[in-house]
Amino acid sequence: MQKEAQLVKSAPIGIFDSGLGGLTALREIRRILPNEDLIYFGDTGRVPYGSRSHETICKYAAQDMRFLLEKAPCKAIVVACGTVSANALPTLRAQFDVPVIGVIEPAVSAAVGKSKNKRIGVIATAATVASHAYEDALTSLCPEIEVISRACPLFVPLVENGFTDPTDPIPRMVAERYLKDIIDAGCDTVILGCTHYPMLAPVISAVLGENVTLIDTGREVAHALRALLKATNTEKTDDAGTLSCFVSDEPHGFAAVAAAFLGVENEAELPSVEKIDIEAY
Ligand code: DGL
Repeated sequence: MQKEAQLVKSAPIGIFDSGLGGLTALREIRRILPNEDLIYFGDTGRVPYGSRSHETICKYAAQDMRFLLEKAPCKAIVVACGTVSANALPTLRAQFDVPVIGVIEPAVSAAVGKSKNKRIGVIATAATVASHAYEDALTSLCPEIEVISRACPLFVPLVENGFTDPTDPIPRMVAERYLKDIIDAGCDTVILGCTHYPMLAPVISAVLGENVTLIDTGREVAHALRALLKATNTEKTDDAGTLSCFVSDEPHGFAAVAAAFLGVENEAELPSVEKIDIEAY
């Protein structure tokens, strides 16, 4: 029994996203769980998921899970993608015999805890907003909450192309257009419902004003993961954790984007990355 528990503790944690947005969660996981071995998969060949159908998102997410679980017997999988969490979580939990943590529940409980006026904004991809997953989770936790949801389809390409500077008029104009309803509704808390969006937090904050609290889904899911490992006594506490990264398209652009997401200044500190054929899973 003791040996079995030890085996589970030393097993890695799988993390995936449609692309590189999930690195915002990975960064936080590495910060608060430095001993854990992590395997990251970014489906860079098929990003974005946010404009795809529910069926396609479920199919892609199952392939992403299969890849991670064939790579190693992971002790938990973190769905570091708002779109997959909103559309495929119940399907994945039914299909795979491993704890699967998504970003919705942790972000929603953080938002409900922070909001004073009970008016919460949710910004996310079109597929996430269409699923009503955040809205349903918010109102079932706190029925009197008013939720204002807004799809922001240009945010992911802006992030992937490095347009994240709050002094740059391009992301600023896009954010002003998207956030108007949320400002007009007087939301005091806004969930960044897509794991790419924390990269735009300075722009979003500049538009919303400093009194509006932003909920970073990547950060919240990292804390939920730590709570799960503690509750199941499966946290690895010996030796520094390792990181392996996999993508589904040519990884040449990976270094620059990953360095920004992970907050690493020296590209030499970045993990190596390998391209895999996700259609084979
Ligand atoms: N990072 C993904 C999410 O959290 C968004 C990117 C996409 O549309 O695939 O929803």
